[in-house]
Amino acid sequence: MAATQLCSNSASLSKALTQNPFPKIPISPLKTTLNFQRTLKPFTLKAVLSQNPAKSQTHTAPVEHCFSKKADGFLYCEDVRVQDVMETVEKRPFYLYSKPQITRNVEAYKQALEGLNSIIGYAIKANNNYKILEHLRKLGCGAVLVSGNELRLALRAGFDPTKCIFNGNGKLLEDLVLAAQEGVFVNVDSEFDLENIVVASRIAGKKVNVLLRINPDVDPQVHPYVATGNKNSKFGIRNEKLQWFLDAVKAHPNELKLVGAHCHLGSTITKVDIFRDAAVLMVNYIDKIRAQGFEVDYLNIGGGLGIDYYHTGAVLPKPRNLIDTVRELVLSRNLNLIIEPGRSLIANTCCLVNHVTGVKTNGTKNFIVIDGSMAELIRPSLYDAYQHIELVSPAPQDAEISKFDVVGPVCESADFLGKERELPTPDRGAGLVVHDAGAYCMSMASTYNLKMRPPEYWVEEDGSVSKIRHGETFEDHMRFFEGL
Ligand SMILES: Cc1ncc(COP(=O)(O)O)c(C=O)c1O
Repeated sequence: MAATQLCSNSASLSKALTQNPFPKIPISPLKTTLNFQRTLKPFTLKAVLSQNPAKSQTHTAPVEHCFSKKADGFLYCEDVRVQDVMETVEKRPFYLYSKPQITRNVEAYKQALEGLNSIIGYAIKANNNYKILEHLRKLGCGAVLVSGNELRLALRAGFDPTKCIFNGNGKLLEDLVLAAQEGVFVNVDSEFDLENIVVASRIAGKKVNVLLRINPDVDPQVHPYVATGNKNSKFGIRNEKLQWFLDAVKAHPNELKLVGAHCHLGSTITKVDIFRDAAVLMVNYIDKIRAQGFEVDYLNIGGGLGIDYYHTGAVLPKPRNLIDTVRELVLSRNLNLIIEPGRSLIANTCCLVNHVTGVKTNGTKNFIVIDGSMAELIRPSLYDAYQHIELVSPAPQDAEISKFDVVGPVCESADFLGKERELPTPDRGAGLVVHDAGAYCMSMASTYNLKMRPPEYWVEEDGSVSKIRHGETFEDHMRFFEGL
């Protein structure tokens, strides 16, 4: 930042700091009734927000994305003003989803998959909200699981076990027993994993349908923390060891039925050629496997499709581009295609909605301090991930635009949601959203600094807003110590 700009920024900041400390935006008092309602009946805002039908009638323009700024300068989720939701719910950070956007994302995959036998296995690790899982199940998705509890949750949410796939490099025997009992697909990740699956099959008294997770050693060109299909990865079997695994499966005809091959390259992938390169390798492996007499019907190409986190209008591949790049390969071998999308199904359906606690400068850097933090949303701190940030209401006319680090109150310098973001200087109490927060945000949230996990809401098809997860409370925390 140029020195002159810094000076003017500092001046406007000090003005902001000496201004009326109470925001122009009214902060609704904390709704003490909410906590009581937790135990009585599910809290829904339907009634409250539908009282204002004018809002949904005024904005009838086709929605390009579920979160968009409309002509009045306010941010909307579908046709609901985010500011209105903020004034109606608990005054703490919260996640706000669009249910119709979740539906649209699933429909995009379904349409892309037309003409293929397929399973859309939603990767539950991306977001494990129970209400969202029920919705995805109703839309026809299967589930991809990486722990026994994710498997239990999927079963509770009514997922068809024959559309579920249990993944992981460290699956526990007890969880494999459950998987065997329920008849879900299991991906074999290593020699010891195969041994455990055999034991689990014997305990459950059921043969297990397995896929070999082969490491294709393709570079997904993503952050190393989310690359999973290269040679140095902890996931999958080495492709040179394929014959060992085929022999081991042959040696256990009562326990294992080899039904397919699996790979997962990584996450946030923005070039579909990478999927094609991997699929070419995978169908070659399938040819080799079939040549040995195995009736292998499934190709699982994993998940990993990226989304437009930067909001720069870049044209990124859509589900159709992904599926089209592997379609002919799949059809040529008469295979069923399994895909495991997480991020591309759920990330863009949600924002983390925060309140501005205050604005400060240290002379060289400006900060917007919000009530949300790395505890609610850790991706920027963990992967240096970019998530777009904006204010939910039009800025005051005299608000100076400056560069800010957007930070939370957690006692860590790594606690930031965004760095060097150009934003109008916000009033205290103003709403600020972190976009594309549907995947790997709430599911990675912690209670660090005893910031209790936030509540979640979604906007429904009719424009009403419902709570879909209670925020955690201090009392929830104390419950872990009861009776000790
Ligand atoms: C095996 C497997 N499948 C699917 C996914 C989902 O990936 P994404 O959310 O990028 O679509 C992951 C995530 O890393 C994974 O490890």
